[in-house]
Amino acid sequence: MGPTILAIESSCDETSAAVIKNGKVLNNIIATQSVHENYGGVVPELASRAHQQNIVPVVHEALKTARINKGHLDAVAFTRGPGLLGALLVGTSFAKALALGLSIPLIEVQHMQAHILAHFIDDPKPKFPFLCLTVSGGHTQVVLVRDYLDMEVIGETIDDAVGEAFDKSAKLLGLPYPGGPLVDRYAQQGDPLRFTFPSSEVEGLNFSFSGIKTAFLYFLREEKKKDERFIEKNLHDICASLQYSLIRMLLKKLSKASEQYGIQALALAGGVSANSGLRKAMDEAAAKRGWNVYIPAFQYCTDNAAMIAMTAHFKFLKKEFASLRVSPEARMRF
Ligand code: KG4
Ligand code: ZN
Repeated sequence: MGPTILAIESSCDETSAAVIKNGKVLNNIIATQSVHENYGGVVPELASRAHQQNIVPVVHEALKTARINKGHLDAVAFTRGPGLLGALLVGTSFAKALALGLSIPLIEVQHMQAHILAHFIDDPKPKFPFLCLTVSGGHTQVVLVRDYLDMEVIGETIDDAVGEAFDKSAKLLGLPYPGGPLVDRYAQQGDPLRFTFPSSEVEGLNFSFSGIKTAFLYFLREEKKKDERFIEKNLHDICASLQYSLIRMLLKKLSKASEQYGIQALALAGGVSANSGLRKAMDEAAAKRGWNVYIPAFQYCTDNAAMIAMTAHFKFLKKEFASLRVSPEARMRF
């Protein structure tokens, strides 16, 4: 029988807990923080406070619905980074205290690695090696995945993350935070070729999204000078065109990585993989180029503790335990 592990995620604005038993995720409890909606972005201090309020009920719910008595846990896992320091501190301190109180091992998890290992929660599971495009509000990375715990970042953004480009552009359109899902929704009824936005060229497999964001700002400013109601009248086409440009930039580098490494198994991870345009573009590329494409279920794309639990399972099998002196790292790498 494999281990039973409680995992905690608190890197940004979701407080989440999950239980994994013998490699099978039993649940995935998530408390979302609505407090940030009024501010147009996540407010770190408010996030920390909400985690502090949510963590006990969320963990309690996870243990209760999994029907696991805490005395039967074999380890406690937590997200060590990257993320907001104050938010990470809540999960780290809680996990440490619980592990110490129960005299069981503590497991630290790197959040970006966990986004990738979310692919091993359900079937179909990708075979090694594969390439993963991790796209979230804080990161845009192409990762070469050789094994569960053997990964290498081969390309990443040199400025903004693609989720940030979605959210900041949505803000310019007057949409509430987080605007990514709304851009996606409006784009579905728009013309993706109506407007074009220049994108910056970056060498190799890296990305840059600050150029397109600035171009978008100037574009809106100019059009609004001509017609005050420009956004209102063209919202669907604007969203569709913006989304098309962002997706094209992602697909271009992913294709390049696939050719360079001779790998046809491609996976998506992170919150932006919920984007319907990106999913469609991946499916089209799969048909055209013979790729095998893997996209996790929606609930495992955005931040969640199930992916932390899955990663902790693999770490437990290798006896990779953390010291009780461990502290969170806001900019943690693989
Ligand atoms: O992975 P995630 O939940 O949190 C981070 O670690 O950042 O990703 C959140 C990001 C936000 O930028 C949000 O706007 C974006 O994912 N997102 C989307 C969609 N759903 C979530 N962006 C575009 N289209 C979507 N459907
Ligand atoms: Zn994330």
